[in-house]
Amino acid sequence: MLKPTLIKAAEAGAVVLREFFRQEYVISNKEGVNNLVTEADHASEKVIFETIKAEFPDHYILSEESGEIVMDSSYKWIIDPIDGTVNFAHGIPICCVSIGLEQDGEMIMGAVYNPFFNEFYFAQKGYGASLNDKKIQVSDQTEVMKSCLVTGFPYTYLDHPNGPLEVFSRLIRKGVPVRRLGSAAMDLCWVADGRFDGFYEHKLQTWDSAAGFLIVEEAGGRVSDFSGNKYSPYQPRIVASNGKIHDELLSWINIEADKK
Ligand code: IPD
Ligand code: CA
Ligand code: CA
Repeated sequence: MLKPTLIKAAEAGAVVLREFFRQEYVISNKEGVNNLVTEADHASEKVIFETIKAEFPDHYILSEESGEIVMDSSYKWIIDPIDGTVNFAHGIPICCVSIGLEQDGEMIMGAVYNPFFNEFYFAQKGYGASLNDKKIQVSDQTEVMKSCLVTGFPYTYLDHPNGPLEVFSRLIRKGVPVRRLGSAAMDLCWVADGRFDGFYEHKLQTWDSAAGFLIVEEAGGRVSDFSGNKYSPYQPRIVASNGKIHDELLSWINIEADKK
């Protein structure tokens, strides 16, 4: 029942996104400037919780807007009820529901659903990744200079040495296209299906990447921290790529790359 419940929960959240999109609703601010939360985030979270709890009342839940429901369970659901809230609040359809499922500390399933593009990404550890039930795989690009990259900017921390603006500027000045979609989960899925060759970001939260990083790995890509170590969604930095440009991309992101 884990996979059907994950799919049902993502679909339930997506129904809420569709209902609220471009309608009147309450928008509030969180920490930082323009870090928004809307009525739709709370409503999406509510139906996702209800769907999961109906099947698995004893499972642990970690969710962006409500925090943690701590349970003595080997399963943990990690939920971002809307990833890309700023886009959502401006009627920009680059946003999604993202849900990852961990078992004994290992991500075993992930679902990312953008109902506006009708894109449902799913991955199960060891079984590959799919977009609307069709297998996907990362791109074949081997050089950063020929890559199309994507990044995101956190609500705080922008001017840190070798932080988001410096790395972005380094790549852009050399002519590498670096897009900014405003949804880390979508960024990761679009690396997984080969639209982007790589993605990096300096300060993500666990729920931003929980589902998406597994989707990239299962599509044949590589995901790490900035030192190239095995990725954990419980630390902030992420580099996700098709694998072939990974080491080179790491060198661009790290300070030594200033010598380029
Ligand atoms: C944000 C998005 C964005 C990333 C931010 C996240 P939210 O999530 O994923 O792409 O750059 O760091 O906080 O707030 O829309 O759920
Ligand atoms: Ca998010
Ligand atoms: Ca969110």
